[in-house]
Amino acid sequence: MIGRLNHVAIAVRDIAKAAEVYRRTLGADVSEAAPQPEHGVTTLFITLPNTKIELIAPLGDASPIAKFLERNPDGGIHHVCYEVEDIRAARDSLKAQGARVLGDGEAKMGAHGKPVLFLHPKDFCGTLIELEQA
Ligand code: CO
Repeated sequence: MIGRLNHVAIAVRDIAKAAEVYRRTLGADVSEAAPQPEHGVTTLFITLPNTKIELIAPLGDASPIAKFLERNPDGGIHHVCYEVEDIRAARDSLKAQGARVLGDGEAKMGAHGKPVLFLHPKDFCGTLIELEQA
């Protein structure tokens, strides 16, 4: 069912500082930060030859990553994103197997302008999974 690794997301408190670590120290190709008010985060993407890293920082008072950063004050890996050919078919298959889809279970527009869903970490080896329509 799952295809390519689209990105690994790392939550950080200070996205400008984190961008500098990737740009300057690690020599990576880093995009501009983009606020995503409807998701409560600011994101940017680091393009690697075989995948991407997404840096996410809290935006606003009720950011969904605020609790994660309380537990991980230095930042940390927040989720992995796998591509699927058909996100609705993937969701229906996963739900039929007892996996929990977060939120109302409907795909939402993600940071790439493609539909995404999140799967409960307790069902997937302790890792929050994002599925993105390929
Ligand atoms: Co993501």
